[in-house]
Amino acid sequence: MGTLHVLDHPLVQHKLSIMRNKDTGIKEFRELLEEISMLLTYEATRDLPLEDVEVDTPICRCQTKMLSGRKLGVIPILRAGLGMVDGILKLVPAAKVGHIGLYRDPETLKPVEYYCKLPVDAAERNLIVLDPMLATGGSSCAAIDFLKKRGCNSIKLVCLLGAPEGIKKVMDEHPDVDIYIAAVDSHLNEHGYIVPGLGDAGDRLFGTK
Ligand code: PRP
Ligand code: URA
Repeated sequence: MGTLHVLDHPLVQHKLSIMRNKDTGIKEFRELLEEISMLLTYEATRDLPLEDVEVDTPICRCQTKMLSGRKLGVIPILRAGLGMVDGILKLVPAAKVGHIGLYRDPETLKPVEYYCKLPVDAAERNLIVLDPMLATGGSSCAAIDFLKKRGCNSIKLVCLLGAPEGIKKVMDEHPDVDIYIAAVDSHLNEHGYIVPGLGDAGDRLFGTK
């Protein structure tokens, strides 16, 4: 079974509370999503393997450590996942970025795919799928299914906010995928929105409503 990592760090909780506030403007919302994404990725990359290397410091030659093993890829789910990319690239600037375009049909709440472009070597990379909102879990599961069908087998999911329903769906359907999230909210409303949540993440990020 995958592990759910809830990042209940005071700084993350403080920043998330500002994002939840309906009066928080687009600039601050964007900045906070970027900052929290960086902090979530810090946790999600904690188990990256290291190798011993030798480095000449100004004082002497020493044994130290650098990253080894598979390279990283980040896969934002469009649109709202885009708001998480820059924060992550500040930590791992050489990561490649793939895009999966999905929107949720407002009637059925099922994800509809409209775009996909992955790095050619995606299957050889450790992938981090990004979506701020894990509501029914349909979009995240569809994106992970999509990646697995293309041979990707090292996948983590990084989200800002989740509902218990969506978390359960991902953990049931993809027990090999760990989830990193800033908070787990109460439930979904009749329109599939997370309660209390923060509203429509894509609209708040891009000013489309
Ligand atoms: C939102 C959000 C997730 C999805 C979550 O996207 O960004 O991708 O809904 O819901 P789910 O867990 O029930 O699938 P939306 O479909 O609104 O598209 P957008 O990001 O383009 O606004
Ligand atoms: N998508 C969002 O942007 N917000 C929600 O609460 C649920 C899905």
